[in-house]
Amino acid sequence: MPPALPQLEDLPDPAGKRVLLRADFNVPLSTDDGDVRIDDDLRIRATLPTIEWLLSRGATVTACSHLGRPKGEDPRYSVDPVRRRLAELAPGVELMENLRFDPGEEANDREFVDRLVAGQDLYVNDAFGAAHRAHASVVGPPARLPSAAGRLLVREVEVLGGLLHQPARPFAAVLGGAKVSEKIGVIHALLERVEVLLVGGGMCFTFLAALGHPVGDSLLEPGQVDTCRELLDSGRRIMVPTDVVALSPDGRRVRQVGRTIPDGWRGMDIGPGTAAEFVDEITPASTVFWNGPMGVFEDERFAAGTRAVAEAVASCRGFTVVGGGDSASALARLGLADRVDHVSTGGGAALELLEHGDLPGLVALRGAPNAR
Ligand code: 3PG
Ligand code: MG
Repeated sequence: MPPALPQLEDLPDPAGKRVLLRADFNVPLSTDDGDVRIDDDLRIRATLPTIEWLLSRGATVTACSHLGRPKGEDPRYSVDPVRRRLAELAPGVELMENLRFDPGEEANDREFVDRLVAGQDLYVNDAFGAAHRAHASVVGPPARLPSAAGRLLVREVEVLGGLLHQPARPFAAVLGGAKVSEKIGVIHALLERVEVLLVGGGMCFTFLAALGHPVGDSLLEPGQVDTCRELLDSGRRIMVPTDVVALSPDGRRVRQVGRTIPDGWRGMDIGPGTAAEFVDEITPASTVFWNGPMGVFEDERFAAGTRAVAEAVASCRGFTVVGGGDSASALARLGLADRVDHVSTGGGAALELLEHGDLPGLVALRGAPNAR
């Protein structure tokens, strides 16, 4: 296990100090009638314990975050909506404009770090969702200021790191999402540790192709078929769908098929048989990690697989962890978020922590002048 992170208690007394807080306020936004709305403010609320700790000890807090992936200064990515919500939840906390408006952020530019820390006394990182990015605001300030991990960051690392070190068994992992290529690293890492890996989502079709099944017009990464075949032959327990919900070539008919997807048809969700098999694995597990939807759940016709997995994870009596992004929003949409032990605020960060056991943002904090 990597060494501990410096915590809030390891900071010099924050009373009267100015604190730069790196948060991940990269929240989902939607625009309706010209009004920008925050669809899910979990990432803002999740940082409140850290903010309250700092404010209650007399610190002045300036928060900073990225929002989306703007190419330079683009008003559509302004943090204004986040600033308004933050003012309701944590009055008095300032929020800088979107860090990614300045190319220095992603380039980890020294001068940009200088400007970020100017006038600040302490640095706190609570941006778990961005801890896998070696960007200026994540890795720069800990080299200059006494620094600490906020409460959220500490909890995320404890829970996700705990999955790697002595998880309660049996341990079942459920992975979905579009691309196998993006998940190969974490699949390898998880296979070392789990009793069973359940594969759904768009990436399951590359596994089905590796088993020799025609997949019609489904998502397929031809370059990953050999890798999937090796994984299936590795002797580890990997379950792939035995049935699939598919959409006709004209986009009008929906049909349940087996592992062979007819020409021109497109797999959109795991089938009910597969969902039942997955539920049978999730229910008795002592540890469950779930990341990625099982199908195109935004469309009600293809939501059943994701719903079945979400409900099984929610009712499982073991320790349940859901990786951020789409699986977390599916869970929230189904009203099940408070029925799992931990909903991570990180998507990519959670997967990279599982894959590598450490992240650039954590390494930087351990190098801070006040770290033990
Ligand atoms: C996320 O939403 O995954 C994090 O905020 C990181 O964003 P990024 O993938 O654009 O770096
Ligand atoms: Mg991401």
